[in-house]
Amino acid sequence: MAGIALTRLEKVYDNGFRAVKGIDLTIRDKEFMVLVGPSGCGKTTTLRMIAGLEEVTSGEIRIGDRLVNDVEPKDRDIAMVFQNYALYPHMTVYENMAYGLKLRKVPKAEIEKKVQAAAKLLTLTEQLGKRPKQLSGGQRQRVALGRAIVREPQVFLFDEPLSNLDAKLRADMRYELKTLQQRLKTTMVYVTHDQIEAMTLGDRITVMSNGEIQQVAAPTEIYDFPKNRFVAGFIGTPVMNFLDGSLRKADGWSFVPDGGTAIALATPHTAALDAHLGRQVCLGLRPEHLSNTTYVPAAAGATVLAAQVRLIELMGDHQYVYLRYGSGDGTLTMKCDAHHRVSVGDTIQIALTTARAHVFDGIGEFAQNLTLQRHESAVQH
Ligand SMILES: Nc1ncnc2c1ncn2[C@@H]1O[C@H](COP(=O)(O)OP(=O)(O)OP(=O)(O)O)[C@@H](O)[C@H]1O
Ligand SMILES: [Mg+2]
Repeated sequence: MAGIALTRLEKVYDNGFRAVKGIDLTIRDKEFMVLVGPSGCGKTTTLRMIAGLEEVTSGEIRIGDRLVNDVEPKDRDIAMVFQNYALYPHMTVYENMAYGLKLRKVPKAEIEKKVQAAAKLLTLTEQLGKRPKQLSGGQRQRVALGRAIVREPQVFLFDEPLSNLDAKLRADMRYELKTLQQRLKTTMVYVTHDQIEAMTLGDRITVMSNGEIQQVAAPTEIYDFPKNRFVAGFIGTPVMNFLDGSLRKADGWSFVPDGGTAIALATPHTAALDAHLGRQVCLGLRPEHLSNTTYVPAAAGATVLAAQVRLIELMGDHQYVYLRYGSGDGTLTMKCDAHHRVSVGDTIQIALTTARAHVFDGIGEFAQNLTLQRHESAVQH
């Protein structure tokens, strides 16, 4: 068992492109770490460097106590499962799973034991005699996992292993992967650009953008306390509402959206906020912190504003309501109970719950969260 430590890890490709920009990251022993971020942010490059499939430009990679920069991939004691795993079509499930061990000259009886155990874990025992084309997509995916498991590596690396599966299978496999990790208790690094996978699978999540790490934290912490506007906007569905405007202090704190009326802020006063009085900032409010006053009475002191319904997306038990407010082209998204009936074109009164709002120190993509200080003191570390 082993953790992984990346120190000032850098990758510059031959064409001069800096794909990974000196990142520092510690993945704990037995941790399920998810690397998430938009396409092209350097997730696969990072994973391939850990696996030894991509040369490190500078910096260090340690697996356990061992510096592995110059260790061959096969000697790193890791197993990698890719999105496009290829099973050998002419081999049975058993042979596919046994193949890697056979190459390593593991005795037959031991191979038998390991394959049977992995098959049991992945509920593939009934399928061992079949060939890949006789299996469903999810079963094939499990065989690819089984092939990695039988090697009993110190570390598993996954690169979007579920992205070829349909929604139902993805959900099933997510569940199985999580269960698997709980049983195997092996360090896992899992790359995805799917934030639901990130939230559900990760013990911690590393959010990347443009070859840099934006935040490393447990899923709920990332969601509740995003460090900057990028993380706030990347994690959460629908996306957090962002309003540009400025801060004002008179009868308590308020945020004045550009061209709109003041929104009272229930966020306590912090020195960081004080320093931004009168300056351009951005207010972030999650869709679930908006409510329709027809169905949910507004809390005392909450700002209520009129908004017009433009579009409704029903999601089963809840719905997303896209709204226009104010005189300009301001838009807001509200997440609410599907039984709170509204129709497109209705003007409704929306209450804003600002106790959990975020104030960012500007309108740029990486503007810092000024309300974090308050949040952080509330988190038990
Ligand atoms: N061999 C290469 N030569 C030059 N640039 C490369 C090479 N491989 C990848 N890149 C670039 O490096 C950046 C990071 O690529 P990487 O594959 O790590 O992204 P990713 O985060 O895994 O994205 P995705 O979610 O699309 O898989 C991208 O801009 C990509 O175009
Ligand atoms: Mg990738």
